[in-house]
Amino acid sequence: MKKKLALAGLLLALAAVAYSQQQSGPSEQAKTLIWAYPVPDKAPPAAADNTPKHIPGSTKAYTQAQIDDQFNPPDWFPDEHGPLPRLLTRGVQAQACATCHLISGDGHPESADLAGQPLEYMLRQMADFKNNLRKDPQAYEATQRASRMNVIAGGISDEDMREAVKYFASLNPQVWYKVIETQTAPKTWVNGGRMRLPLVGGGTEPVGDRIVTLPQDPARVESRDPHSGFIAYVPIGSIEKGKALVTTGGEGKTIACATCHGEGLKGLGDIPRIAGVHPIYVVRQLYNIQIGANTSTAAAPMKKVVEKLTEDDMVAIAAYTASLPPR
Ligand code: HEC
Ligand code: HEC
Repeated sequence: MKKKLALAGLLLALAAVAYSQQQSGPSEQAKTLIWAYPVPDKAPPAAADNTPKHIPGSTKAYTQAQIDDQFNPPDWFPDEHGPLPRLLTRGVQAQACATCHLISGDGHPESADLAGQPLEYMLRQMADFKNNLRKDPQAYEATQRASRMNVIAGGISDEDMREAVKYFASLNPQVWYKVIETQTAPKTWVNGGRMRLPLVGGGTEPVGDRIVTLPQDPARVESRDPHSGFIAYVPIGSIEKGKALVTTGGEGKTIACATCHGEGLKGLGDIPRIAGVHPIYVVRQLYNIQIGANTSTAAAPMKKVVEKLTEDDMVAIAAYTASLPPR
């Protein structure tokens, strides 16, 4: 009986270890890009707090439930922008764009930076999402399972979509990242909105081969503050390595990016800016294109660019592009 209990105890302990590894760091440090496709953790530390929240410089107040209402997200600074197209903050057939991309367009790592991206480019992406040529992958293990943007692009009228995209194209991107080369970073968890946050009291862990993106100020970012950006913890040496690949093509490994993405990677014609955008977003796109989760003919020129890249190359490239000024 005692033996059985001890065995049960041991099994429980092992299960607990396996579970805690699933929750954060270590398992993600195996060589996969799983961290670039955040999915909510199973048992996130809940913080049920319904007191009104404030952010610096705004006179408004919202509860967390209001902040997280995907059909009616907050507008902290109504004086900072002109009239908003209705889809920005009012979800009708689909969630409101500003929920994930913010009114500033700069968005969160799990979504995308749309600020000032070329109109033609974004219209094409919306069409490609709608037709499932480009997937917004459900998860790293499900890169072909179309989700979010595929549903949203398919659920709104062409006119509403054009108005929303025109608004994002008119914006100026902000510097949204501090990139820090380091051996260790805070331990993290992923909340229900797929945002990676520091695990309070969790200490640190090795960065390994990952890019760990965390809010510079978690409370402000969780409030969808359009003025509060991110830190990217990246492996030591990755920025220099990325710079070499991006600027020279790395002796045939890839193609120098500025050829198509323009001077400083700030975008050229209908080709998007990649300077200063979310580094885990860049990793996702490079990988998606490499494995065929984006089969749009418009993305065909990128096929040759990503063909020979390893996961470490993608990490290095994204560490470098995140460190560049967006304008
Ligand atoms: C629920 C969250 C969510 C909402 C709401 C949302 N998006 Fe997105 N959007 C995403 C995610 C996530 C991606 C990036 C997908 C990926 O990683 O490949 C994205 C990507 C995009 C892109 C491609 C960006 C690029 O650089 O290629 C465009 C354009 C876009 N969204 C426009 C919109 C518009 C317009 C709306 C409102 C009608 C909207 N989105 C609403 C989550 C959202
Ligand atoms: C031969 C031209 C060409 C070269 C060289 C090139 N790109 Fe691209 N890239 C494109 C085009 C065109 C698109 C837009 C595809 C589309 O419309 O779907 C794109 C899209 C991307 C995207 C997705 C952007 C977004 O907002 O979703 C990323 C990331 C990217 N390129 C990174 C790179 C990097 C990094 C390099 C250099 C290592 C590079 N590209 C070199 C043509 C190029």
